[in-house]
Amino acid sequence: MKFIVEPSALHSGTVAVPGDKSISHRALMLGAIADGQTNITGFLAGEDCLATLAALRAMGVKVEQESPTELRLTGAGRDGLQRPVGTLDMANSGTAMRLFTGLLAGQRFSAELIGDESLTRRPMDRVIKPLSMMGAVIESSDGRPPLRVDGGHSLHGIIYRMPVASAQVKSAMLLAGIYAEGDVVVIEPAVTRDHTERMLRSMGVSVEQGETQIVMRGGQSLSGTDIRVPADLSSAAFLLLAAIISGNAELTIPGVGVNPTRTGVIDILRDMGADISVDNVRLFGDEPVADLTARPSRLKGIDVDPAKVSLAIDEFPVLFIAAACASGKTTFSGIGELRVKESDRIAAMAEGLRALSVPVDESEDGAIVHGGKLYGGTVQSHGDHRIAMSFAVAASVAEWAVEIEDVANIATSFPGFAERLASLGLTIKSSGSAGPA
Ligand code: S3P
Repeated sequence: MKFIVEPSALHSGTVAVPGDKSISHRALMLGAIADGQTNITGFLAGEDCLATLAALRAMGVKVEQESPTELRLTGAGRDGLQRPVGTLDMANSGTAMRLFTGLLAGQRFSAELIGDESLTRRPMDRVIKPLSMMGAVIESSDGRPPLRVDGGHSLHGIIYRMPVASAQVKSAMLLAGIYAEGDVVVIEPAVTRDHTERMLRSMGVSVEQGETQIVMRGGQSLSGTDIRVPADLSSAAFLLLAAIISGNAELTIPGVGVNPTRTGVIDILRDMGADISVDNVRLFGDEPVADLTARPSRLKGIDVDPAKVSLAIDEFPVLFIAAACASGKTTFSGIGELRVKESDRIAAMAEGLRALSVPVDESEDGAIVHGGKLYGGTVQSHGDHRIAMSFAVAASVAEWAVEIEDVANIATSFPGFAERLASLGLTIKSSGSAGPA
């Protein structure tokens, strides 16, 4: 499927975005091994989280879906998961694959995790290594999926200094730690999203958090709870930028997660001159949320602070578009992790921007984007949802139409994306088959 997007004048409004992907995955996994019931509202019914849901059902977890966004899980308890029949398909989701590897490491049964073409290219050695040090036995295809997690091995504590800043690795270790004897100590090279730590605490698990060190005593049990999932800031970012570059539209997005380990995108856009306000800050359980409003702003090129990279890790595609619309040049550095996301996001963004006549200099772990005018053209999304959505936003201010190829994977994280932008005035047409090309 592809999008054809015409330059469009957006209008002001209030628009809701779907639930947070990271929190939705965790709510399912932690609810599944808790004692008692977990009620989830605001769940992201995107393909990634639905893969997690299907895998848990395959392991015998009872989940009633009262509406696409409201779920009632009957926790199986720490030791209540059952051996699945057949493989567990993680589809496009790195979060599902890595977190399940941790969760499965402590089970009595073995299971095999598979994924789509993009996921099969992604590195899994980053979870296999620390989990193996904890006593897990995991087979892979040279550090990549498919993974076979062998059951029946007892796990022990670990002190692990992570070589890459990764919330997925940290979370996999904490999930394995639920089944381990002794303390799990994770030291991060930079702060990463702490949704697992917060949710574990809300379910009665004691987890100590220093600035970059997490300590959890192994072998604790979880109690089911009510989880209200905030709207996903990573999805909201596309709409915020659409308003910022629009020239006339002011957009408000209610109830967006503003956990400080996720708000790097707001800080970086503000550093570039964006007018974003964060109002009515409140809590959904242990997670802070706020109503965000973005207004048309004149953006300027900056050197993006590398210390903010892990706090905005999924928002770099949208930040590349901000840079393309800014005056002067924007320098990104320390973003090498982007090369192992759903696509090589540095290469995909550089290629797409060049197709719209924006000059980009690319290096191994960075890029320089020379802001100015965006013309029209055809852009490849490489089957990556965030690349596709970033260019749809860019197209609103391009000189001519932009065609974006291979956009079906937007459904992994932001079902209803095109409809929402169309309701704000974007001329966006889809054509072709629904399956990823
Ligand atoms: C996620 C962590 C990040 C992020 C991903 C979701 C999570 O990945 O890019 O979209 O939910 O833990 P890394 O841990 O690989 O940085």
